[in-house]
Amino acid sequence: MMKLENKNILLGVTGGIAAYKAVELLRLLKKAGANVNVIMTDSAQKFVGKTTFEVLSENPVLSDLFFDTESSVKHIELATRAHAAIIAPATANIIAKLAHGIADDALSTTMLAVTCPVMVCPSMNTDMYQNIRVQRNLDILEKDGWHILDPDSGVLACKTIGPGRLPDPWFIFDRVEAMLVKKDLKGKNILVSAGPTVEPLDPVRFISNHSSGKMGYAIARAAEKRGGQVTLVSGPVSLMPPIGVECIDVQTCEEMATQMLANFDQADIIIKVAAVADYKPLDPKAGKIKKKENDKDLSILMTQNPDILKLLGKKKTKGQFLVGFAAETDDLEKNARLKMEKKNLDMIAANIVGSSDSGFKADTNKVKLFFRDGSSFDIPLMGKDQVANILIDQVIEKME
Ligand code: PMT
Repeated sequence: MMKLENKNILLGVTGGIAAYKAVELLRLLKKAGANVNVIMTDSAQKFVGKTTFEVLSENPVLSDLFFDTESSVKHIELATRAHAAIIAPATANIIAKLAHGIADDALSTTMLAVTCPVMVCPSMNTDMYQNIRVQRNLDILEKDGWHILDPDSGVLACKTIGPGRLPDPWFIFDRVEAMLVKKDLKGKNILVSAGPTVEPLDPVRFISNHSSGKMGYAIARAAEKRGGQVTLVSGPVSLMPPIGVECIDVQTCEEMATQMLANFDQADIIIKVAAVADYKPLDPKAGKIKKKENDKDLSILMTQNPDILKLLGKKKTKGQFLVGFAAETDDLEKNARLKMEKKNLDMIAANIVGSSDSGFKADTNKVKLFFRDGSSFDIPLMGKDQVANILIDQVIEKME
């Protein structure tokens, strides 16, 4: 299922230079399965033409209450069926009108009739944005329960440097998704580990594994969207840090252990997705290991790393829910249950690895969850974001 499938989204575009970014936002919303209706102010149309939004949304654009529609109550119909409304970019003018209930064009009139969650994305010159009247109006909207997305700072179109730039469309999209998610992890601290660990052999070489971090990052992202306070301890990966998540970068198993233990006590749910190196070189060299012409073979003595999850399992107190992952190629259930027992876990996600669409590096995953009470739950092959949400559903259910 796509993320916003069957959702009706109202996208209000007002007259700012950032109106072009609303086009990309529309594309992202459409790609996620949403039905988008665009409402433009007159000044927005001075920046981007109506046709662009009409073609991409596959819906007529509303800009004039009297000429654009076959029905005199089209705006009420759009407002009533909307699951979310976004105003991006939002000028000082529309913000003032919305704050004071003025209805003198298609957008401001429609917005008086919406009852769904609303996100307002201010974008304007820094002095305008910081003007006490604009800030006062934004406060009014926020107190009324609307979401205000702070603008980015940077060099603006007017050459001013400061806050006022509309955030990137993918960022707005991410926050809209978050706005629509039920906050069933509100008040909970979630600690997640992700990615591989790397164990140095010398200053230029290391031992590691194929974990991309995708599964762990998907869990951290989903937990944040569901209202959790998330800390992510991550080995080296090439992924964007999830929005709203505290990220702690580590390299080795020792470093991961230190950070997981430091953040463990305040965590309610701990999910250890990271693929940790069980062994590390006993004696990593200070200088680069040189190739010796006469020695065909090279032996490296390895020593065991601490088992972080086992340490956490020993420390676990009542009320904490500890989840491990197990990457298995065979004897899935037997091996997973054994690990759950040995490490004192509440749940283990057994990950079928060895095929290109599941486990390491893949965008999809196939997982079977085993619980302490003997029960199990199958998650068939699906995107890692979806797996993350189902896994969290199961954790919440078992914690209740
Ligand atoms: O990152 P991706 O590319 O998205 O891939 C995801 C994944 C395949 C890495 C992930 O879904 C997964 O299966 N992670 C666990 C992999 C693993 O190392 O399993 P394991 O059987 O070696 O370890 C079992 C559990 O003990 C894991 O939760 C692991 O974090 C933990 N462990 C292991 C060794 C160790 N020294 N300390 C640990 O804490």
